[in-house]
Amino acid sequence: METRIRCVLLTVLAASIISIQIPAGDLSFDDLAKTPPMGWNSWNKFACNVSETLIKETSDAMVATGMKDAGYQYVVIDDCWQVSRDAQGNIVPDPVRFPSGMKALADYVHSKGLKFGLYSDAGTATCQKRPGSRGFEEKDATQYAAWGVDYLKYDWCSTEGQDAHAAYTRMSKALRGAGRPIVLSICEWGGSQPWLWAPGIGHLWRTTGDIQDCWDCSQPWGGMGLIHIIDLQTELHAYAGPGHWNDPDMLEVGNGHMTTSEYRAHFSFWCLLAAPLMAGNDLRELSPETKEILLNKEVITVDQDPLGIQGRKVADAGPTQVWMKPLSGAARAVILFNRGSAVSPISVTWEQIGLAPGAEAQVRDLWAKKDLGTFKARFTATVKPHDVAMIRVQP
Ligand code: GAL
Repeated sequence: METRIRCVLLTVLAASIISIQIPAGDLSFDDLAKTPPMGWNSWNKFACNVSETLIKETSDAMVATGMKDAGYQYVVIDDCWQVSRDAQGNIVPDPVRFPSGMKALADYVHSKGLKFGLYSDAGTATCQKRPGSRGFEEKDATQYAAWGVDYLKYDWCSTEGQDAHAAYTRMSKALRGAGRPIVLSICEWGGSQPWLWAPGIGHLWRTTGDIQDCWDCSQPWGGMGLIHIIDLQTELHAYAGPGHWNDPDMLEVGNGHMTTSEYRAHFSFWCLLAAPLMAGNDLRELSPETKEILLNKEVITVDQDPLGIQGRKVADAGPTQVWMKPLSGAARAVILFNRGSAVSPISVTWEQIGLAPGAEAQVRDLWAKKDLGTFKARFTATVKPHDVAMIRVQP
């Protein structure tokens, strides 16, 4: 009896010694993104035109529009918030655009029940030629933690001669040691196939060059429209899961150069792909159409499903495709995708989505938010060009 009590006491003592030795920041790093992160980032709409006022107004709008209630939480300032390093090597925020400093701004964002994010770069300079973090990883991570940063997007400009795996590991270790849980968003554009090495180092990794607010354009420097980004996700579904996500880049929904159908397709795909949902538009002026897309909780639920399985293409007939994401409760989310230029009927068979061909399943239209009834073997919808039907199939 006595021996057993002594044993228990020793185990408790050993456990407390072990937990004392783990730095506080390390305790939850691996648990920070069990479902894909949701929030807003300044780049797609504002580029370098960032300021304290914009961030405060965006945080206010995230609450007032219902986006916070729908699950969006990170407010992230992308490139251009930083101007130099001081004599001690500390990173210096732009004093004109951020006169109150980053700690006060983080406090403001936190006071709204939201989380605060910043951007830096693994090289000597960011893509907009601001100071990068190379050689300053620990210093920067410590500073971010002191300011109250919850999310770091870490870019890949000016990294000549650097190895991506090693560079991102260095910042990951610095963040883990900084004493505050900080999500690490790897922005290396997919060049070194980060899906093969990044799980456990960062919580999400970009899979492509920069998204553009267009259906199928492409830029000589690597920027690309929606269709090209979707096509580049086809083989990546095996690499995502709770805590580690493929990132097909931030959302363009609401930025004005695609149609409502195209934005609906964009958002549907990001949710089916279990992608991070970082809005990239001006939250202070959401049109009713944009609101209906970004705030569709049934579609967001597909993205945030706790199983964390990324959807994949299950049928491809050229201009029409079928994509499927397994959900908890044996349900499936299905996208019937019309990428062509004519209205088309598109079918999904139960066999294509792993159900018994003769099974009966309930179908719900996630955009109409309507139950469509019970279907056997298949479901067909008529889909407009550059649009989707998105359904939930429950056997
Ligand atoms: C790019 C990155 C963009 C944005 C930009 C800022 O490399 O992919 O999302 O962060 O840099 O300069």
